[in-house]
Amino acid sequence: MSAPDSPDSRDTGLEFAPDFVIGSATASYQIEGAAHEGGRTPSIWDTFSRTPGKTWNGDTGDVADDHYHRLESDLDLMADLGLEAYRFSIAWPRVQPGGSGPANATGLAFYSRLVDGLLDRGIRPIATLYHWDLPQELEDAGGWPNRDTAFRFAEYAAHTVEALGDRVHTWTTLNEPWCSAYLGYGSGAHAPGRTEGAAALAAVHHLNLAHGLAVQEIRRLAVADPDVSVTLNFHVARGDHETSPEARRRVDALANRAFTGPMLRGTYDGDLIGDTAGVTDWAFVRDGDLAAIHQPLDVLGVNYYSTVTVRMWDGVSPRARNDGHKDMGGSPWPGSEHVEFLPQAGPFTDMGWNIAPDGLEELLVSLHGQFPGLPLMITENGAAFPDEVVHASGGARVPDAERVDYLRRHFAAAHRALARGVDLRGYLVWSLLDNFEWGYGYSKRFGIVRVDYDTQVRTVKDSGRWLSQLIRSRRIPELDVPSVRARPL
Ligand code: FCB
Repeated sequence: MSAPDSPDSRDTGLEFAPDFVIGSATASYQIEGAAHEGGRTPSIWDTFSRTPGKTWNGDTGDVADDHYHRLESDLDLMADLGLEAYRFSIAWPRVQPGGSGPANATGLAFYSRLVDGLLDRGIRPIATLYHWDLPQELEDAGGWPNRDTAFRFAEYAAHTVEALGDRVHTWTTLNEPWCSAYLGYGSGAHAPGRTEGAAALAAVHHLNLAHGLAVQEIRRLAVADPDVSVTLNFHVARGDHETSPEARRRVDALANRAFTGPMLRGTYDGDLIGDTAGVTDWAFVRDGDLAAIHQPLDVLGVNYYSTVTVRMWDGVSPRARNDGHKDMGGSPWPGSEHVEFLPQAGPFTDMGWNIAPDGLEELLVSLHGQFPGLPLMITENGAAFPDEVVHASGGARVPDAERVDYLRRHFAAAHRALARGVDLRGYLVWSLLDNFEWGYGYSKRFGIVRVDYDTQVRTVKDSGRWLSQLIRSRRIPELDVPSVRARPL
């Protein structure tokens, strides 16, 4: 924890402007369940989670939070909390089973009901087109290292925008393409679990191309005048060793500029190409690709959880191999395997991620400096802790003081960034509900609402009440928050 006199602790009462949007976020495979209903076909996460040893306890998203069947009551819960915006993702294999051909009306109808339900309740719909559930058939055809996948994505985007483009406020093309490329095809910790450095870099480019093509489809087809964005998980790299500046440069090139370069500047930086020359010659970048990728954006989505501390190493660092995720044998850092990820100073969340709110402030200020004129939105921030339910006279409660503390420190950091002139438009807490945390299955709870996976009962945690209070008062609340009414479900 920060010292009592650090800026982090002087946060009560900090005020957010009325137009600063505060809400929460989820993703399709993590909450929906109904994996085999409504015409949905398997995604790479269905296949991966069924592969022995890939997820904690063999957990899958088959049922998850059963959100698909509990849409109305979950929408009511969002309204009770007072959410101003809800960021959700659309499952490609629900909307376009198999990843090619016509749209599936049943799949689109589900998202149409979701969007209408949000609008009816005065909640802004922020839709992400891709939060990692690639149709399995497209992986069978080569996945993201295969150029055609980018064009398939543009087609899927067109189907979706044709159906929902009159009502969605903000479209986000991709969520964290770093994870899709480097964890999916480099380390193998995420689906589809491949460990091929060159394929990971080809995936980087084809995800970038998919983004650019989809932005063009959104602008061509959306009837309303939506905001268009992408969400990236930036690496905030630190380190005070004499080799840390070089390690930081490499991490920044691979993790951050591999995406912001083409998307926001229309180029891959020379140092990125040089660092990875032993892995690939980047011949997959074809004439016209960079122009296609470099599309104007209305807002940049920023996901932030923690920092990394790095230096160079004279061997292949074991920590570079797994980056805090499960070590599946490959490296998420093709071309930068010699970057060593050092143990971090605590405190830590249940993920083992260090709690560093000043890293969020630093990141926002840095992005604002690099891309002046581009508004920013925190599209994910939150923390996993092992919560407990207590039964008091007023009913069940989840006193998740650590999550409240995490959130208040990060809201305070966002407030400091605003005070320093950053054009930050809003803040979406990850996550609305406890859910399927990828390789960690259901063992990690990120929700501001607890989900009992046996009964599917939802219980608003103290952090949910705290966020609700913040939204209503526009000020960072006192720690002792009044309760919000949780609708019986
Ligand atoms: C992000 C993902 C999100 C969730 C959080 C904890 O990387 O976008 O789905 O798993 O981490």
